Amino acid sequence: MPIRAAKVIRKMRGGAQAHLIEAADGEHYVVKFTNNPQHRRILINEWLACSFLRHLQIFVPETAQIELTSEFIENHPELYLSIGSKKEPIPPGVHFGSRLAVHPERVAIFDFLPDNLLGKVENRLDFLGILLFDKWVGNTDSRQAVFFRARAKKWTPLRGDAPARVGFFAQMIDHGFAFNGPHWTFQDAPLHGMYFRTTVYEEVRSYDSFQPWLEMIENFPVEVIDSAWKQIPSHWLDGDEDELERMLEQLLKRRSRTAQLVADMRQKRPALFPNWKG
Ligand SMILES: Nc1ncnc2c1ncn2[C@@H]1O[C@H](COP(=O)(O)OP(=O)(O)O)[C@@H](O)[C@H]1O
Ligand SMILES: [Mg+2]
Repeated sequence: MPIRAAKVIRKMRGGAQAHLIEAADGEHYVVKFTNNPQHRRILINEWLACSFLRHLQIFVPETAQIELTSEFIENHPELYLSIGSKKEPIPPGVHFGSRLAVHPERVAIFDFLPDNLLGKVENRLDFLGILLFDKWVGNTDSRQAVFFRARAKKWTPLRGDAPARVGFFAQMIDHGFAFNGPHWTFQDAPLHGMYFRTTVYEEVRSYDSFQPWLEMIENFPVEVIDSAWKQIPSHWLDGDEDELERMLEQLLKRRSRTAQLVADMRQKRPALFPNWKG
């Protein structure tokens, strides 16, 4: 069920010109619009990637379909996209929302952490899982995450101990360029999907370091893909159904190639994995 937008907070950085919006449920969402300058398909990529990542238990934002009514748009003249020197209005309808894990006025959310703090991120092993994921889905962008301090209450990691204390957590964001963004092809350039602070890869000692995610991707259930696909609003698809089906079939076929794609990355840049022996 879509959630109605209630208030525009501000425009965010980034090529999609997303906006921070408070919705009727009292939560804050970074919203990407169907007519964003990157492509309408970016919304589909975001929706699918977050659904798949939840299955892999890698920490990602909750997602929602955010409805902007005509009345809301009329009442918020500050809401528009800048295309060249032109102001592009947002069409009424349902758009993609990525929910903030914390209240932005109460808890700081960081786009980057220095290496010494990055090494203390409670779920830092998620960077290994997400690397496999980015290889599998052919993310042509580099890896992006946000960080905030929280108490690990409900967090049940697949790897590492769940701490009771307050610590930094990383949430993986921006999956617009999974499946090569608007193109829905797989390019497989060895260094795509890499996080710019490569200390996150120091824990890798062998292929085993990528478990349980490697096995989970190789056996990724068709049902998870199907149920995510069925939730996509029809006007995000806009005639792309057949092409999406073709792309997802390819995605299923490439599950078994994930380990090789990481090997290609290692071969291209061995220094990324200084502790990977053998
Ligand atoms: N769920 C989220 N929680 C906190 N901040 C977010 C979230 N999603 C996006 N952001 C912020 O919004 C910015 C733009 O979002 P992003 O998905 O990176 O869009 P773009 O495709 O334009 O780069 C990010 O750099 C980040 O600061
Ligand atoms: Mg981004």
